[in-house]
Amino acid sequence: MAKSGRVRRIGILTGGGDCPGLNAVIRGVAKPAHDNGLSVFGIFDGFEGLVLGKGKELYNKDVSGILAQGGTILGSSNKGDPFHWPEEVDGKVKIVDKSQQALRNYEAWGLDALIAIGGDGTMHISKKLADMGMNVVGVPKTIDNDLEATDVTFGHDSAVFVVTEAIDRLHTTASSHHRVMVIEVMGRYAGWIALHGGLAGGADIILIPEFPFEWEKVYEKVIQRHMMGKRFSIVCVAEGAKPKGGDIVVKAKDKKRTDPIQLGGIGELVAKKITENTGLETRYTILGHLQRGGSPTPYDRILSTKFGTYAIYLAIKKRFGKMAALKGSEIVSVKIEDAISRQKLVKPDNQAVKAALAVGVSFGVEEL
Ligand code: F6P
Repeated sequence: MAKSGRVRRIGILTGGGDCPGLNAVIRGVAKPAHDNGLSVFGIFDGFEGLVLGKGKELYNKDVSGILAQGGTILGSSNKGDPFHWPEEVDGKVKIVDKSQQALRNYEAWGLDALIAIGGDGTMHISKKLADMGMNVVGVPKTIDNDLEATDVTFGHDSAVFVVTEAIDRLHTTASSHHRVMVIEVMGRYAGWIALHGGLAGGADIILIPEFPFEWEKVYEKVIQRHMMGKRFSIVCVAEGAKPKGGDIVVKAKDKKRTDPIQLGGIGELVAKKITENTGLETRYTILGHLQRGGSPTPYDRILSTKFGTYAIYLAIKKRFGKMAALKGSEIVSVKIEDAISRQKLVKPDNQAVKAALAVGVSFGVEEL
């Protein structure tokens, strides 16, 4: 920290999986920072850059014209946890602690504060770095929307927009060919993307991790629709959904990632089981990273700008260890530790769940 005790120089990084709106936050931080006489140092590839000492000075020209740009101009990574750093020794991956190296780089760059933009994993690491003495301010990002301390994370609305458009497109081909269309969407262990995207797209069945489903209930719903003369059905399934008493479908494991589990495959399984058990023709689509790419929606551009400008205000006011959050229509600050204490999951009494049930959506369960 500068002698006067004033915050003069801040670092900024984007951690974990990318999402639309990251650049809008970077711009929201950097523009007012520059206007207030602060210098901004952009760290490359999330915490990886903090450990490896990779970054560059961010000037106004660097953050101009990036509001609508997807991705992140700084790069991101979900493999750079300084406390859980994968190092390859003799062809084997060994996990080591590089947090002191991260702290040394923070000091060598002359940073008075670090603005960490990320999801659950990023906030966990931020909390540990704050405990070591770094002045950290968090900004909640994730398409999954699973951070308890904020009503919404930026990136979620853009992902839901993509899911909705995809379901709209599936509807027309499903109805032409009288098929059951299964769409697998992201969200990890939370069902927000499937719930909101499914509801907006008019899915007939929504399967989410929070409500383990019964296979029979899924078959029942598509057959019931068929009998009613509706010759197609749309099933929106979250990647983390699982049948009652069953397991989530894991695509791969990678020890180098902050969360080693890569989800994927439930959509294919649901499609296969529906065909086998109902005789109806079924196809599946995995939407994958399309949900994370491209330009942010207007909602996300506004939310990201609000978060970014609020985060730099928190840093200037030295309100460290805090994360910007949306509560109702207000942007407020919450303690980073509160933000990571609980994952935000879909509850049966959620208004979107109630609305879905009211318009005849099945969650593949007898009762919620
Ligand atoms: O957390 C965001 C997210 O997109 C999840 O919805 C998904 O499970 C995961 O990241 C995918 O990660 P990766 O891009 O590393 O495959």
